[in-house]
Amino acid sequence: MNSMVIKSTPEKVFEAIESILAQLKKHEVPMESFFDVKLILSELFVNALNHGNRKNPEKNIVVRYAIEFNKIVLTIEDEGDGFDYLNLGDPALDENILKPSGRGLFLVKSLADFLEFKEKGNVITVGKSLL
Ligand SMILES: Nc1ncnc2c1ncn2[C@@H]1O[C@H](COP(=O)(O)OP(=O)(O)O)[C@@H](O)[C@H]1O
Ligand SMILES: [Mg+2]
Repeated sequence: MNSMVIKSTPEKVFEAIESILAQLKKHEVPMESFFDVKLILSELFVNALNHGNRKNPEKNIVVRYAIEFNKIVLTIEDEGDGFDYLNLGDPALDENILKPSGRGLFLVKSLADFLEFKEKGNVITVGKSLL
């Protein structure tokens, strides 16, 4: 299990994503899985940064991840108040189709093998097979 604690700035988020992807590259992951994980990481880190920690650079984002047995499991935690994750909107509904936001978690859900919110919604764990 690897872990990192970063401050909530776009630069730190960018570095964290790059360093996890660098680990992934060592595992000869198929290209499609690699890009899926990149998208998952981007969406979850951006949510932690913007919605969770509200871009407050003093607040931490904690990421824990393990890459083994051809899968990645990662947990991202922010210092925010969480949200009502049981009532997520469906971006595919007619009333939401033109909204520019609200698609990230939908995408993550469809790409990941499992996704679980914990605490108040400020902790999210996803798992994805890397085959
Ligand atoms: N880490 C988080 N902390 C608080 N609220 C969150 C978090 N992640 C997601 N949300 C809430 O869930 C909504 C849907 O997230 P998402 O599907 O990524 O869409 P978007 O980020 O485009 O709004 C967000 O608008 C926000 O209200
Ligand atoms: Mg988002």
